[in-house]
Amino acid sequence: GPAPASTLFIFGASGDLTKRLVMPALYNLAREGALDAQFQIVGVDIVQHDDADYRAFLTDTAHQMAGAAGLTLNETAWSWLMDRIHYIVGDFDSAETYKKVGAWLDQRKSETGQANAVFYMAVTPRFFGSIAEKLGENGLFDESENAFRRIVVEKPFGTDLASAKALNAHLLTAAQEHQIFRIDHFLGKETVQNVMAMRFGNGIFEPLWNRNFIDHVQITAAETVTVEQRGKFYDATGALRDMVPNHMFQLLAMIAMEPPNSFDADAIRTEKAKVVQAIAPMTPEDVLRDTVRAQYLAGNIGGRHVKNYQWEDNVAHDSHRETYVALKLSVDNWRWSGVPFYIRTGKALAVRRTEIAIQFKRPPHRLFDETPTDELLPNALVIRVQPDEGMSLRIAAKIPGRSVRLAEVDMDFRYSDYFKAEPSTGYETLIYDCLTGDATLFQRADNIEAGWAAVQPILDAWEAGEGELHHYKAGSAGPSAADHLIERDGFAWQPLI
Ligand code: BG6
Repeated sequence: GPAPASTLFIFGASGDLTKRLVMPALYNLAREGALDAQFQIVGVDIVQHDDADYRAFLTDTAHQMAGAAGLTLNETAWSWLMDRIHYIVGDFDSAETYKKVGAWLDQRKSETGQANAVFYMAVTPRFFGSIAEKLGENGLFDESENAFRRIVVEKPFGTDLASAKALNAHLLTAAQEHQIFRIDHFLGKETVQNVMAMRFGNGIFEPLWNRNFIDHVQITAAETVTVEQRGKFYDATGALRDMVPNHMFQLLAMIAMEPPNSFDADAIRTEKAKVVQAIAPMTPEDVLRDTVRAQYLAGNIGGRHVKNYQWEDNVAHDSHRETYVALKLSVDNWRWSGVPFYIRTGKALAVRRTEIAIQFKRPPHRLFDETPTDELLPNALVIRVQPDEGMSLRIAAKIPGRSVRLAEVDMDFRYSDYFKAEPSTGYETLIYDCLTGDATLFQRADNIEAGWAAVQPILDAWEAGEGELHHYKAGSAGPSAADHLIERDGFAWQPLI
């Protein structure tokens, strides 16, 4: 059913995130009838608009985006949404802005009897703490009158362990943990949630899901995009911070967590925090041996010329920032002892592919002389997160003919063969869950801090100049140093090309 009535305040209402992700998601929710008739949206920003021209601004953008995607806007759903749009002009630093927000809610209360509110931070991260603080000072997190009051923030949550802790502490001076919804948009992806369905909704996988049967795990997030217009942010950030403590560790947590006691949000989040906390902290020697960082050079991606990273807009010409990272991690707990986890992610690669490959151990005894099983690729379960969402299991099968020769074949499940999914950005699920108060897919403070704690030694070692910066050609499968990282252990990456 529709989420309970509330007002969604979007701070940063005229910014990019609002246009590109938040509004399309709200429109999809409106189309599905997932929003209450009493639902209201209030944009808050310093840019001058009144309600009417803020609606016009959103409508223009929506038509452009729909046009670019070859879709037509459902006018009924769109106007339903526009009827609920309002705008408050306000500086995030000024007390006046929060008075207006409070006054709006008081009026809702007197008109409709409810004053539920979600404060969505679609602003640059330096405002997260201070906006939360001002909301708090103005009593806007007070839930005593039977209202819910929630704040939504999205990564980056800090730039290292210390700043992440400081941000969490700052948020927690204003609101309580149950009121803070930290988005990692990977958790909005159907296939990421499907990992739990696959592991815990079936009886056949979990008995094999441990060090006795699994050889190693590979997690890949390969992108074809370059830094595009984000040079300023990216050159200060790099692939490690941008992808690993958050998205990559969310995938790792889904794959490696213990079964939760229940499907309760905190039961799940506790197990996820535990497994990320079990990632062994690296010593400086580990960083030298088990990490690879690299930057792209000019090349071609699908016929498109890409220039050297250092020549991208708003990137320093002598930048040492990594656009690719590969890591070997160990998860020090009972289940995973001795099972390496290899992670790689990078920009300007040959293909866009996010997947998790679970590689199983080889059969214990060589039976087939003509095809020694150690010459075949071992069994692997590959979970394709995107694109071509699905799963395949690699097995050995007999090649037809009189001799007993074997080959690898794939048992393949494709989402699109079974399910017709509505177009979705992933934000629909997250916004709906926030409106209904289901925190399962949101990051708790301890999850975030555990992620940063695991990468902090790498950040420190690189900062101190340890380890070489490798290079790779745009449009390639990444640096050869990343191949050595895994080949050294007798394994190979799932081929990207
Ligand atoms: C973002 C990163 O969080 O995730 C981007 O900042 C990255 O650099 C993006 O491209 C990847 O998300 P998706 O959903 O496109 O796989």
